[in-house]
Amino acid sequence: MQSSLYDRLGGKDAIVAVIDDFVGRCAGDGRINKKFSRSDIPRLKTMLVDQVCEAAGGPCTYGGRSMRETHDGMRVTAGEFDALVEDLVATLNAFNVPGVEQGELLGVLGPMRPDIVEIETAETGTTLPESYRGAPPLAAV
Ligand code: HEM
Repeated sequence: MQSSLYDRLGGKDAIVAVIDDFVGRCAGDGRINKKFSRSDIPRLKTMLVDQVCEAAGGPCTYGGRSMRETHDGMRVTAGEFDALVEDLVATLNAFNVPGVEQGELLGVLGPMRPDIVEIETAETGTTLPESYRGAPPLAAV
């Protein structure tokens, strides 16, 4: 039997390292980083690790908000979504994740796009609306 994507990515430690690098790239990317200006970054990292681990068939359970609820009112554009995917691919390349595994991972994340993108324009670098309410910090969960 083909091993799970989780195993082929290198398990939990590898996923933690990948998410750490990825969130760092997002934070340094002027095309998207304004959206994260009020985010609790430790919570975000924990949630992304659990989400990717679970989606890849690993022994994790994602306990965060739904993709629709999380991104509702953030006014994420199509261009910003593409920028974030580019940052993820750059991370996966830096970790030498092969094309097959990259494709499988993007294949499970890509279908979430309709719950995330609210503005179908190529514009990037847009601000987070004042009205957006983020998730509580992890310690408060
Ligand atoms: C397939 C693409 C994406 C996935 C899988 C994803 C996944 C997630 C997850 C799991 C969380 C944490 C939810 C929680 O804390 O309960 C989150 C939060 C967040 N995401 Fe995304 N996301 C994606 C695309 C984007 C894009 C394109 C942007 C903006 C450029 C974005 C901006 C944010 C922000 C700002 C937060 C923090 C929200 C807060 O403060 O509570 N995401 N995302």
